[in-house]
Amino acid sequence: MSKPFVYITRKLPESVIEAFESVFKIEMWPEEEVPVERGVLLEKVQHADALITMLSDQVNHEIFEKQTNLKVVANLAVGYDNIDLNAAKEAGVVVTNTPDVLTDTTADLTFGLLLATARRLMEAERYVKNNSWENWAPLLMAGQDVHHKTIGIVGMGRIGETVAKRATGFEMEILYHNRSRKREAEEKIGATYVGFEELLKRSDFVVCLAPLTEETKGMFNKEAFERMKSRAIFINASRGALVDEEALYDAIHQNVIAGAGLDVFKNEPISADHPLLTLEQVVATPHIGSASEETRKTMMTLCLDNIQHVLNGKEAKTPVGA
Ligand code: DGY
Repeated sequence: MSKPFVYITRKLPESVIEAFESVFKIEMWPEEEVPVERGVLLEKVQHADALITMLSDQVNHEIFEKQTNLKVVANLAVGYDNIDLNAAKEAGVVVTNTPDVLTDTTADLTFGLLLATARRLMEAERYVKNNSWENWAPLLMAGQDVHHKTIGIVGMGRIGETVAKRATGFEMEILYHNRSRKREAEEKIGATYVGFEELLKRSDFVVCLAPLTEETKGMFNKEAFERMKSRAIFINASRGALVDEEALYDAIHQNVIAGAGLDVFKNEPISADHPLLTLEQVVATPHIGSASEETRKTMMTLCLDNIQHVLNGKEAKTPVGA
């Protein structure tokens, strides 16, 4: 019997793939940084038993209509807003993601972004490397303290809770807003549940970690930024589409808020001439929340494990439901 065909939409390291080569026929798009051509994906899916997809691939009706034998789509991310779950369900295809294994790594990046923005680290680094540093000065590159301030986490899932844990080390007051109350986080971490508006009003750092859904799309708009403190810093490590980027630009440019640390953007990759990137008070990273070598490799292996489970007729390890 021939081996099941697994198509991977980016080049992944051989060291991860090799353990599965005896059980699957694996083919990959040959580029690491260039996304798969749509035509190639549409052709490959016709013969594939399984796909490993990236968050930058739109896995929609067009893909599911072409498949003939597809059993599982394993998305290399915890977020799965790039996949049409209803179309997958109609086609009888299981969808999996990579929760848990990236929680700590993504929380680290989120908190790092918060520190970098508050303490102006990137600006300070540019200043030194540009040879602009001539003298020590009392307020040179003075930023804002993080310790003892109030952090407001919007989206208290696994990553939100882990960011809250990081914040306890900085003795911060922790507010959160979520679809549902997280009593355990309240007891263990001392987080306080508040309404969205109260969180915006009271937080020194507003951290967006909510998933992208119809309800959360554009929730950080002009009104939301106007409710924040004028010294507030906005951090986004979730999805760019939760934010009205024009409103964010205006809010920072007009000193309605103090700055932003952004790992995600509405259109990725964001163009270097995007107005947001012209602001000194914006720290920008290229969607690297879960990008440590260890975690990314663990995520890849989890995708392959999920595929193996489904193709062997077992329940996926980390399925997502429609
Ligand atoms: C995810 O996995 O959805 C995150 O955005 C990774 O950074």
